[in-house]
Amino acid sequence: MARVLTTIDAVRAQFSALQRNLVFFDAPGGTQVPDSVIGAIAGYLRDENANLGGPFETSRLSDALVARAHATAGAFLNATVDEVVFGANMTTLNFALSRAASRDWNDGDEIVCTQLDHDGNIAPWLELAHDRGFKVNLARVDDECRIDLDHLRSLVNERTRIVAYPFAANSVGTVTPVAEIAAIAHDAGALAWVDAVHYGPHGPIDVAEADADVLLCSPYKFYGPHLGLAFARRELLESWRPYKVRPADPFPVSNRYETGTLAHELLAGFVAAVEYLDDVGWDFVLEHERELGQQFLDGLPAGWTLHGVPTMDGRVPTFALTHHSLTPEEAATRLGERGFAVWHGNYYAVEIMKRLGLPDGAVRVGIVHYNTVKEVERLLDALAALGG
Ligand SMILES: Cc1ncc(COP(=O)(O)O)c(C=O)c1O
Repeated sequence: MARVLTTIDAVRAQFSALQRNLVFFDAPGGTQVPDSVIGAIAGYLRDENANLGGPFETSRLSDALVARAHATAGAFLNATVDEVVFGANMTTLNFALSRAASRDWNDGDEIVCTQLDHDGNIAPWLELAHDRGFKVNLARVDDECRIDLDHLRSLVNERTRIVAYPFAANSVGTVTPVAEIAAIAHDAGALAWVDAVHYGPHGPIDVAEADADVLLCSPYKFYGPHLGLAFARRELLESWRPYKVRPADPFPVSNRYETGTLAHELLAGFVAAVEYLDDVGWDFVLEHERELGQQFLDGLPAGWTLHGVPTMDGRVPTFALTHHSLTPEEAATRLGERGFAVWHGNYYAVEIMKRLGLPDGAVRVGIVHYNTVKEVERLLDALAALGG
């Protein structure tokens, strides 16, 4: 397909939010959205707003929109339309799907998570373990924050029902060998349960290539509105018993997991976000992000420590840093005063911060494709000014 947006200037022109002085390195907490997404949300509310299944124009338009959003989500993840489930956000979907998946498990069944996971892919299993007597084991990471596959393998056994792991870490940016971990899970008869929230803005997701059984992401991390999206293999959705209302019984299988009325206007925004990404193309995203990430790694000034993978291979450009004397909060606040949006703390990646011995967490710089060489240069200058 011909790409419409081929330069960084053309990309940035799509975002009113980027036409201001604040420099956005906060994308891992949620990206800015292009104006087309804002327009689609407003347009739905203005022209099509209704609930589903009514014999009148706005309801028919809403039916069509919801169908289109599912088709778009299926194509986006390389899944079929009846394998995608929308929800409020990843965390809410994960609590719901994990509960449905485990209804017929037995006391003593096991789940393997990793030290790289966001709590949204650990806490649902811990809560189930609390209620139902399951056991949660954590696979370790090495000193550069890559999952220790030998350790993970040693935790998987015939009681393991799920191996839950991230596609990419929202804390330190590691990209995991998704399909290799799925194979470890499958060899033991367990499901591969992938948190792709952080990977979403950085590269294409293909559930078949990942060999994922369940995969979750959040459109608000890839230029869309605040929304969650899950994939689960059709046979799984059919075999689990969802928590749902009785009138949902005849719905197509994936819709039975979408409890209540969806945020239709946000589905319109989601479709527009995927169209925006189609106009940019993943080649631009991958190349531009790699260039900026390398610029950041090459220029990181003295006084700062980078935690995690030290090269652009095997990571996305999400960087966790600590300063030799300022706390992460102090450093992020100083950067905020200078016009940079960066996060600090653990960003719910509780286990990796324990592993790194960082009780106050770190400063997180999250680069995405709408950032510029100039912005990275300015950030490096600001880090140098705080360095020393
Ligand atoms: C890797 C990862 N997983 C899960 C979540 C939770 O996503 P949501 O806010 O959609 O519940 C986040 C949010 O920051 C995340 O970065």
